Amino acid sequence: PPKGPLSGKRILITAGPTREAIDPVRYMSNHSSGKMGYALAQQAVRAGAQVTLVSGPVSLPTPGGVHRIDVISAADMHEAVMQHAKNNDVFIACAAVADYRAADQQPQKIKKNQQELTLTFVKNPDILADVAKMQQGPFTVGFAAETQDVAHYAKDKLQRKGLDMIAANDVSDSRIGFNADQNALHVFWSGGDQLLPVASKLEVASALLTLIQQRMSACQ
Ligand code: C5P
Repeated sequence: PPKGPLSGKRILITAGPTREAIDPVRYMSNHSSGKMGYALAQQAVRAGAQVTLVSGPVSLPTPGGVHRIDVISAADMHEAVMQHAKNNDVFIACAAVADYRAADQQPQKIKKNQQELTLTFVKNPDILADVAKMQQGPFTVGFAAETQDVAHYAKDKLQRKGLDMIAANDVSDSRIGFNADQNALHVFWSGGDQLLPVASKLEVASALLTLIQQRMSACQ
């Protein structure tokens, strides 16, 4: 394996959207492209890490050297992550997990014979918060996609979910929003923060991995 700043580290990353089935032909999802999570996986391999990527449905090639586990729903992603989290040094939750799923998946296609349709959704498990709660779990990094008060919501999420680090991005900025090839992050940890200015997702991924590695050595 390549020697690098993350040599010997095992990193688990989630990426992409999840899909929540409504009936056999329909689902609820979101606009996540998976690009940021895949960029992190690619750069983590370059930095010498052993990388497991738990990916929702995306149309991206698997970066070389990455162990990719494909999942569809948040429940599937939760199961895969909980199975692997204890064997990893770092967990980065980059996936745009659907917050809700249909309370009852309809076994047959829903017919359009009513003027109104009401569906009930129930909350999905919070994968990131569950990993952060683990005893002797990995160094845990979350993302916060916000459209306003980015720093405020990110710091709140860092505390509430008990994370080691959070990377906030302003998805209302079209240069760096969903499906863009660039990103910019404001990263927070307990006692500090750093701005990672607009750059390609690969460059931003590298900068974030460097910060993670610095915080991990500072915490040891
Ligand atoms: O609370 P919110 O959804 O804004 O938090 C975003 C962060 O939490 C992201 O890192 C995302 O991957 C993670 N998350 C998760 N499981 C969920 C919801 C969000 O891992 N069910």
